[in-house]
Amino acid sequence: MSIAYFNGDYLPLDQVRISPLDRGFLFGDSVYEVIPSYAGEFFLLPEHLERLARSLEAIRIPNPFAPAEWTALLTDLLVRNADPATPDLGVYLQVTRGVAPRDHAFPADARPTVLAMASPIRPLPEAVRVEGVAAVTAEDCRWERCDIKATTLLANVLNRQEAMERGAVEAVLLRDGKLTEGAASNVFVVLDGRVITPPLDASVLPGVTRWRVLELARELGYPVEERGVSADELARAGEIWLTSSTREILPVTRLDDHAVGAGLPGPVWQAVHAAYQAAKPGAQVRTPMQSGGSA
Ligand code: PDD
Repeated sequence: MSIAYFNGDYLPLDQVRISPLDRGFLFGDSVYEVIPSYAGEFFLLPEHLERLARSLEAIRIPNPFAPAEWTALLTDLLVRNADPATPDLGVYLQVTRGVAPRDHAFPADARPTVLAMASPIRPLPEAVRVEGVAAVTAEDCRWERCDIKATTLLANVLNRQEAMERGAVEAVLLRDGKLTEGAASNVFVVLDGRVITPPLDASVLPGVTRWRVLELARELGYPVEERGVSADELARAGEIWLTSSTREILPVTRLDDHAVGAGLPGPVWQAVHAAYQAAKPGAQVRTPMQSGGSA
């Protein structure tokens, strides 16, 4: 049984008890992070903690910990869950506004609930590296503050479920004819040799993986653009990628039952994926078969 952190204690996950009056449960009044670790070391932890601070500020929950305290708490969690059989762990972390009698307006004196738990990041199946994955397009019907990493994810859940039922791994969302992001990922396209992703505004989450991938693509010398992508551009992209902390960079080779480019993971993905693998902690001891991860 994995060990969780819950409001100051470390205990087996199945012993954590959340109050029915917790506002995270009642209203989805909470924010979260998913932070990857490789070989016992966090990857891009300061960036995740910065985004957590921004999400908390945006919904006016006081941040319960300073970055150094978060780092100590989460590192302790990793140590307690260390298992050589699953060296790569994703930490899910959630902060709710706390427990109070049900009322939509903020309670006067609730203390934030803090939960963190770890689960294995499984290696990317060989078939995905060789063949890529399928995605479908769907209408983005989420709220207008998708830049906040809120747990209020019903639209994302329905979009992802629709994708699964259509034989795909992700729904690629369009709003007013423009690409926003995936149900649980950011989206990149490669068009005429340029690496393009929608700009950061309230319609997309500022993904930590997105940020690192942009940096790596620039370092590799690809022209990079953060700009709007039309449905038409998406349909004729030579490559499409999905980025997220647990699935890293997934190459989409089928979109809505049409091949993307040549229908195989493309050369730009190969280069950026290799650079991403090399940037992860413990990369030098990882064999090619172990590289990559999936949710
Ligand atoms: N989701 N956009 C959305 C809507 C997401 O839910 C996620 C990640 C991302 C990518 O962000 P990052 O690169 O920081 O992981 C973009 C996580 C993994 C989840 O909900 O499980």
